[in-house]
Amino acid sequence: MHSIFLKFLALCGLFSSKGHGLAVTHQFLDFQSHCNSLSNLTAVGDYEVTVLRSEYVAAGSTLNLTAEGRNVTCATWDAPAYSASACRLVLQVPTSNASSIKMEVWLPEEWSGRFLSTGNGGFAGCIQYTDIAYATSYSFATVGTDNGHSGQSIGAAYHQPEIMEDFVGRALYTGVVIGKDVTKQFYGPDQSHDMKSYYLGCSTGGRQGWKAVQTYPELFDGVSVGAPAIDFVGQLQWLGYVLQTLGTNTSETWLTDNDWKEVHEEVLDRCDKLDGAADGIVEEIRRCHPDPSDWLCDNTTDSAWCLAPAQVEAVRKIFTPFVINGTVFHAGAAHGNEARLMQAILYGGLAIPWITEWMRYIVKEDLSWNWPQWNEADALESLRQNPFNVQTYDGDISAFRNRGGKVLHWHGEADEYISVTNSDRYYDIVAGTLNASTTELDEFYRYFRVSGLGHCSGGPGSNMLGQTLAHAAGDDAENNILTRIVEWVELGKAPETIRATKFVDDDITKETLYARKHCRYPKTNLYSGVGNGTNEDGWNCVDYKA
Ligand SMILES: *[C@@H]1O[C@H](CO)[C@@H](O)[C@H](O)[C@H]1NC(C)=O
Ligand SMILES: *[C@@H]1O[C@H](CO)[C@@H](O)[C@H](O)[C@H]1NC(C)=O
Ligand SMILES: *[C@@H]1O[C@H](CO)[C@@H](O)[C@H](O)[C@H]1NC(C)=O
Ligand SMILES: *[C@@H]1O[C@H](CO)[C@@H](O)[C@H](O)[C@H]1NC(C)=O
Ligand SMILES: *[C@@H]1O[C@H](CO)[C@@H](O)[C@H](O)[C@H]1NC(C)=O
Ligand SMILES: *[C@@H]1O[C@H](CO)[C@@H](O)[C@H](O)[C@H]1NC(C)=O
Ligand SMILES: *[C@@H]1O[C@H](CO)[C@@H](O)[C@H](O)[C@H]1NC(C)=O
Ligand SMILES: *[C@@H]1O[C@H](CO)[C@@H](O)[C@H](O)[C@H]1NC(C)=O
Ligand SMILES: *[C@@H]1O[C@H](CO)[C@@H](O)[C@H](O)[C@H]1NC(C)=O
Repeated sequence: MHSIFLKFLALCGLFSSKGHGLAVTHQFLDFQSHCNSLSNLTAVGDYEVTVLRSEYVAAGSTLNLTAEGRNVTCATWDAPAYSASACRLVLQVPTSNASSIKMEVWLPEEWSGRFLSTGNGGFAGCIQYTDIAYATSYSFATVGTDNGHSGQSIGAAYHQPEIMEDFVGRALYTGVVIGKDVTKQFYGPDQSHDMKSYYLGCSTGGRQGWKAVQTYPELFDGVSVGAPAIDFVGQLQWLGYVLQTLGTNTSETWLTDNDWKEVHEEVLDRCDKLDGAADGIVEEIRRCHPDPSDWLCDNTTDSAWCLAPAQVEAVRKIFTPFVINGTVFHAGAAHGNEARLMQAILYGGLAIPWITEWMRYIVKEDLSWNWPQWNEADALESLRQNPFNVQTYDGDISAFRNRGGKVLHWHGEADEYISVTNSDRYYDIVAGTLNASTTELDEFYRYFRVSGLGHCSGGPGSNMLGQTLAHAAGDDAENNILTRIVEWVELGKAPETIRATKFVDDDITKETLYARKHCRYPKTNLYSGVGNGTNEDGWNCVDYKA
């Protein structure tokens, strides 16, 4: 009774105080000198470590990472300021005789008794200080690694399998094992004997979270993962397939930016209102099956816009499953997001560098490889290689269930990089592999599709759900996917919905436009309220019927 009460207090403190209240379980008489003593570390458990830095970072501080030699391509993940005082430890740790990780351990002065690992993004190579700053603001002892190489490119893994192994999962594993050990030593057994362990990540960070659930189930009590880059090889090969399907701007299969905007308008005409709200957002992609041949120029209409047969076929291929000789590589892009998708991967130039890097450095080991050479045989070969199981698509997560872990999985339905269909498919694979009903999965694995949310952030709909400090519409569990997973693990209160908020200019310091509660798969959101869907209480999660 007593310990449950204490935990509850800690949780209240966590939700309300951002590290300045009841969450505190320990304060040192001289925190700074306790911090300095870490500079003497030479080993942690079985790992040899080299201390690169150990310093006290006072609340409100900024770090000059450029001066510390941070790779300039990593600047996306620099944090502005740190709102909680913490002891910062930077380590270099060998992971094999040909590889090592750089990692950070942040030990807050006011500690909640909780540990958290952050993840990475894309092919990087970059410690995510944004996420470290966020988690420490909630009083987690927090770790992050550089995933075994420096910078945004995967080129470091060219002819370096040890570096690939770190990227796939070993860097995460090593960082967590060392981070937990250091945290326990630092705060001492009285404070840390009941330490709970969490994970927060999106995109590649989402894949790393799933890698932990699938392969290192002992690491975390609670995992909060967004837009995971699982089925990793399939996602990359699909980019090659899309490029080849559309060709270049002189191909008869090509669609211009304006064509995609027209396609998007046509899709909205057909699908927007199926959920009961005309708000420009498709809630249920399973109900949205436009027929591209409706847009064929039939030489009789006077419609201002239409598509030629080769273009119609190209659209059809992109929005239906990509399968080679019975092997599914991709479930097909999700409708409702056509123009943003193509802006991001095609005109925004992401597809070409991504498929090129993977083929050049990893699959073909041929630096002269270029995307027009992409073919189905290479796609099959890359799936066969699947280095260190970077796929991260295993359906057997029973070990994680059996150790009492919880997974909160979310994915934006307007994701412009990794289609939400990929997460839908994974949920179904887990259900099939475990032969588990939705009710059984709900005990430990819940998956939420967030309409109008882009890749990890952004997008036309409600898109602030506590992914990072800049996306924390609220600290309370209802509004925040980080405190939500804590509540589930520590109080057994499982999330029914995920609430996300839309702000003016997608800026949480500005006015709120509306909020929406998003349903857990396979339920679907239906609107029966008045107006255009901005009345939050007009939405209901109901069973999906085809
Ligand atoms: C490092 O270890 C030595 C020997 O144990 C000790 O004398 C010294 O005070 C330690 N340094 C710090 C900063 O704690
Ligand atoms: C950070 O350090 C770099 C390199 O030493 C320096 O050029 C830059 O002015 C510093 N930035 C700030 C904001 O102090
Ligand atoms: C590095 O480790 C691998 C296997 O772990 C081993 O085969 C190789 O001989 C080692 N190389 C050196 C230089 O120690
Ligand atoms: C910085 O990152 C880029 C891209 O990943 C990489 O090519 C470069 O080698 C990195 N620089 C250093 C100094 O590691
Ligand atoms: C077609 O693409 C080429 C090469 O990227 C570019 O130079 C040209 O301006 C494009 N033409 C049109 C009509 O967009
Ligand atoms: C009909 O439309 C197709 C596709 O736009 C075009 O290639 C063809 O020339 C048109 N035929 C006639 C008779 O206008
Ligand atoms: C698909 O299967 C057919 C029949 O076995 C074979 O001829 C073809 O080469 C296969 N395609 C690829 C890309 O391997
Ligand atoms: C799957 O679960 C159902 C319901 O519990 C059971 O009837 C069925 O035999 C199971 N199938 C397999 C292949 O285990
Ligand atoms: C929805 O309706 C409200 C109230 O009429 C209006 O302020 C808002 O702009 C509309 N939003 C959209 C997305 O149409």
